Amino acid sequence: MIEVTKDINRAAFFLNNNEVIGMPTETVYGLAGNIYSEQAVKKIFEVKQRPFYNPLIVHIKSVEYLEKVAVEIPEQAIQLSNHFWPGPLTLLLKKHPSIPNIITAGKETVAVRIPKHPTAQSLLALLDYPLAAPSANPFGSISPTTAEHVAEYFNGKIPAVLDGGASENGLESTIIGFIDNQAVLFRHGAISIEEIEALIGKIAIKTSAKDQPDAPGMLLKHYAPNTPTFVTDDVQSMVNSFSRKKVGLILFKDKIANADKHFYEVLAENGDLQVAGANLYAAMHRLDKQQLDAIIIEKLPNIGIGRSINDRLERARFK
Ligand code: TXA
Ligand code: MG
Repeated sequence: MIEVTKDINRAAFFLNNNEVIGMPTETVYGLAGNIYSEQAVKKIFEVKQRPFYNPLIVHIKSVEYLEKVAVEIPEQAIQLSNHFWPGPLTLLLKKHPSIPNIITAGKETVAVRIPKHPTAQSLLALLDYPLAAPSANPFGSISPTTAEHVAEYFNGKIPAVLDGGASENGLESTIIGFIDNQAVLFRHGAISIEEIEALIGKIAIKTSAKDQPDAPGMLLKHYAPNTPTFVTDDVQSMVNSFSRKKVGLILFKDKIANADKHFYEVLAENGDLQVAGANLYAAMHRLDKQQLDAIIIEKLPNIGIGRSINDRLERARFK
């Protein structure tokens, strides 16, 4: 049985013994291990069934630690880290030679962030190494936003999950890299592009698979429920076209007529996109368990975090 614990020392004990555990962060739960432990890192890839060509994010405890994992840090990266760390921003930087190649999948860059979740911070403070942690879901499936999600995915495969409650953002970190020292957005996430641009000005966006054949997290099919999932601006029409099928609905803020005839979830009755983002994955997890013929999800306004959510929906939908 997998141990679900709130005990940070217990979590540190497992990590110090080259084990892999579930770890809460403010974005989604991570599958964490010591970046310098080959045994732990291999196990992360193995239990996640993640291909070795897909690199891992390194989680550090403080800005002071950055120089141990990255070199030649661009000015804009310093600006971004000063402003958004700790928090849901991942920077792709030139790797420090001491970072094992298995972490970066042989790339010259390392992905790094400082999580804001107090439990993650307390855990990192106990350790004298950073933690590699991809999202704690099997490759391709919905990311976990609670300890229970992780326990369901990995019972029998990892010894423990550190329980830090539901993830506050509920969406993965925003990923920014640098080309010729200019910032480029590689993954929409919990920090909106508007917030990034308010700090450093207009930046290029390279989030489609064709822009970055070597960043597999951006694969078009990802974050997907097992149930065929459809995304639309007009939920009512789509529900009508599914007559006699058992459908589940994920709605933004308003119920549709006769919503009660179906399994349905309203993400944010107050229309707050942040709240919608925080609830999305948990809603997808719940509906995915209902043995439905289809899940129909309402597209969100394409601004702020809405854009990050729509990006995930595009990758989750049935193809
Ligand atoms: O919010 C998050 O970022 C969560 C929490 C646990 O921190 N982690 C997460 O990890 O989403 P993961 O592995 O599911 O997504 C990280 C993405 C992957 O698409 C991976 O390919 C990309 O980051 N990545 C990691 N290192 C990279 C590198 N050196 N160069 C390019 N892409 C990289
Ligand atoms: Mg992931």
